[in-house]
Amino acid sequence: MEAKYGLRYDQVIPAYREAMKRGARRFGLHSMIISNERNYHYMVETVHMLLDIIDEVSQELKIKFEFFNISGGIGIPYRPEDTIFDMPAFVRETKIHLRRFAQKNGYTPRLFMECGRFITGPHGVLVATVTNRMSKYREYVGVDAATMSANPRPAIYESAYHHITILNPNGQPNTAKKK
Ligand SMILES: Cc1ncc(COP(=O)(O)O)c(C=O)c1O
Repeated sequence: MEAKYGLRYDQVIPAYREAMKRGARRFGLHSMIISNERNYHYMVETVHMLLDIIDEVSQELKIKFEFFNISGGIGIPYRPEDTIFDMPAFVRETKIHLRRFAQKNGYTPRLFMECGRFITGPHGVLVATVTNRMSKYREYVGVDAATMSANPRPAIYESAYHHITILNPNGQPNTAKKK
């Protein structure tokens, strides 16, 4: 596996050793491996891998880790048919790895994550009203929300998908079939 940032596996112990030589006394481990992943197994594998590395570094250098950070990566459903991330299963299996680590090492490092998308993504909606229509080559509608200020993601990331639900005059999702 190749990566632009971070350390290669064989560089990890020398990096901590060098940090200790330069006076570091508190230790943690950061990672950033996956993005928008809805399969919880990959996140559990990340936890497992980081705990293995911490275990190895701890044994070799006789240090304790205050925390490890699995970073971002927990995905959210963008399309109605997308499955959701199984948080209870992730927590259950992660606890097994943490317990195993604690049994061997006598302590558990704190687990941090940076899953902002998972927290904020599914909990907001942009409501816009159609203000004008144009029929040329295809049907265009203008709305009272601007791409760059209200919903820049699809314009910035070509692959980004944002689902649009059209409401009928009663405010309910329009389930009428397309003509
Ligand atoms: C360091 C770091 N943390 C967190 C994230 C957020 O990841 P995501 O939104 O894919 O969960 C990223 C995304 O690139 C990142 O680089």
